[in-house]
Amino acid sequence: MAKPNKQRLIAAALEARTKAVAPYSNFQVGAALLTTGGEIIGGANVESVSFGLTCCAERIALFKALTERKKSFSAIAVVAALADGPTPCGACRQLLAEYAPNAVVWLADANHPDRVREFTVRELLPHAFSAFRQNSD
Ligand code: THU
Repeated sequence: MAKPNKQRLIAAALEARTKAVAPYSNFQVGAALLTTGGEIIGGANVESVSFGLTCCAERIALFKALTERKKSFSAIAVVAALADGPTPCGACRQLLAEYAPNAVVWLADANHPDRVREFTVRELLPHAFSAFRQNSD
């Protein structure tokens, strides 16, 4: 398994952030997912005039990765110009709990990317919803 390289992944999230489409909030967010095979997939937030359709950087990165058939993730970095970095919203936490439960989450202020906060997905979303059927055995 590839060793998560924190600063390399933060740098990829900063690069992804430059592609944000955030004309309404003007709050650009970048995310970068690291697969257990060592590949990096970036994503940035995309906003809509119908605000509820906006998609966070974390989900864009995750959806890109999943539709490239990447299945196993060791880390995700998220950056924005916010003191201590942005914390993923509830919707993104749910998807991370489902598809990247073992990923380390690194959060950083885009203006101070050397200072990184670290969480597990389970810390961010304990007791995640994970099944809608009873286990039959
Ligand atoms: N946003 C993200 O992309 N990720 C987060 O972790 C927090 C919020 C985006 C959504 C929206 O485009 C903008 O930030 C303001 O909420």
